[in-house]
Amino acid sequence: MRAPTLWGRRVVLRALRPDDVADIVDISVYDGVTARNEAEALDLLRRIEADAARGETVHWGICLAGGDTLVGTIGFYRGFRDGTGEVGYVMRAPYRRRGLMREALALVVAHGFGPLGLATIEARTAADNAASIGLLGRLGFAPRPSDDGLLRFALRPALTPLSANPRG
Ligand SMILES: CC(C)(COP(=O)(O)OP(=O)(O)OC[C@H]1O[C@@H](n2cnc3c(N)ncnc32)[C@H](O)[C@@H]1OP(=O)(O)O)[C@@H](O)C(=O)NCCC(=O)NCCS
Repeated sequence: MRAPTLWGRRVVLRALRPDDVADIVDISVYDGVTARNEAEALDLLRRIEADAARGETVHWGICLAGGDTLVGTIGFYRGFRDGTGEVGYVMRAPYRRRGLMREALALVVAHGFGPLGLATIEARTAADNAASIGLLGRLGFAPRPSDDGLLRFALRPALTPLSANPRG
């Protein structure tokens, strides 16, 4: 499905366009494939769009509010079986550690539990990915048992923080 625009205080999430790929080659990864150049990034975007048309994916570009600088991507990437959506996200290196993904993920979580009507939002991450683990913990995701070598986290509506910035 097409990604609706979601407005936050510091970031705006919007659908990606083919002319965006030059800005996101360095973070274009999908289904285990990493793009090495603009053409491959465009191929990946086309694959994501095809999966989105089948209702299996929602993919957003993360832009700085007040402009259109593309700083990252985020979305639901593995279908929506049993009312569960799995999030994935990447922030371009120069924009990390500014709280931008925390805000983006909070917007996506609110959209998942709101308009998408999800019962559970999951995430999988490598055991040594301290940034991703810290991000998920900050948003209230709880660890779950996993049997595929990755850490698995889940969030349910009742546990959703009220704000993207719970510590103010
Ligand atoms: C994971 C990632 C998306 C975080 O993006 P970010 O914009 O830097 O995250 P934020 O600045 O919003 O940080 C939110 C919280 O995450 C945690 N965090 C972020 N980076 C961290 C790091 N390097 N080490 C430990 N905790 C970290 C912190 O708890 C932070 O909250 P705080 O700033 O209040 O302490 C980013 O590091 C990234 O793109 N990594 C490469 C891609 C990736 O690993 N994606 C996940 C695959 S499952």
